[in-house]
Amino acid sequence: MKKVFGVLGDPIEHSLSPAMHNAAFRELEMDCEYHAFRVRHKYLKNAILGAQAMGFGGLNITVPHKEKALEFTNPDTLARRIGAVNTVSFNDGIRGHNTDGLGAEMALLEAGVGINASNVVLVGAGGAARAIAFHFAEKGAGVTIANRTPEKAEVLAEDVGCSHAGLENLKELLQDSDILINATSAGMHPHIDSTIASRDILHPGLAVFDIVYNPLQTKLLHQAELAGAKPIGGVAMLVHQGAEAFRIWTGQKPPVEVMRNAVLEGLG
Ligand SMILES: NC(=O)c1ccc[n+]([C@@H]2O[C@H](COP(=O)([O-])OP(=O)(O)OC[C@H]3O[C@@H](n4cnc5c(N)ncnc54)[C@H](OP(=O)(O)O)[C@@H]3O)[C@@H](O)[C@H]2O)c1
Repeated sequence: MKKVFGVLGDPIEHSLSPAMHNAAFRELEMDCEYHAFRVRHKYLKNAILGAQAMGFGGLNITVPHKEKALEFTNPDTLARRIGAVNTVSFNDGIRGHNTDGLGAEMALLEAGVGINASNVVLVGAGGAARAIAFHFAEKGAGVTIANRTPEKAEVLAEDVGCSHAGLENLKELLQDSDILINATSAGMHPHIDSTIASRDILHPGLAVFDIVYNPLQTKLLHQAELAGAKPIGGVAMLVHQGAEAFRIWTGQKPPVEVMRNAVLEGLG
């Protein structure tokens, strides 16, 4: 019988996950399909338990449910530490995982940038920054967190056990850094003129990873190019966090390039 997978969120109509995973299932000729479900906050528990009861193959969880989903799953150690779940598997009860940090690491790796023993300045202290901070610190990166609201950077740095600094010190911070990550919504459509850093504080030798993927070429990536730094866009993280979820659910090697093409087509 056909296996069903899905993503739960609200709103959900712009999700690229159905296109990405259905392309992977087609490529591997698996009798599976993936749908987007708009689920209200108060029904999240029912939706997760219902998916298990109906024999779903797995779920992704997206905004605004990632934190709440922790309560209704048995989270693995990383998801518990992050405090958020983006992938649910039903192979062994209801397990909660978080693949966002690994997705970010893979995006850098495929651009030839390793994270262990690197100095990373992570701008942002929301959900995505949290996942990246825990995963990167666990992998041996030296992480410094800066955020528009400094108190949130301080709290996240304390949780992770890493440093924090004021955004106003970004220029000095970057002088000794290998990687700058934008994990904020700055630059995201429709605020495409917004950026966390201008060309003059970036330098050759710095990898500038913008996890925003809409638009594909953000203002920050353009500034990085002008400064001779290495620009890395957010699509790769989206694809690799999805690829890792695919691997968890199916045990199969995900067709990463097919998934990437589906996402790029979805973004037009
Ligand atoms: N590529 C991927 O796979 C992937 C995965 C997840 C998320 N994302 C993208 O990452 C971004 C953040 O997502 P999230 O889930 O972490 O959101 P979130 O939890 O709402 O956090 C938003 C973060 O952005 C900061 N921020 C918002 N506008 C800003 C601005 N104009 N200048 C500076 N900082 C600003 C916020 O700072 P304050 O604390 O001061 O409000 C906060 O740190 C979104 O664009 C999302 O689409 C990409």
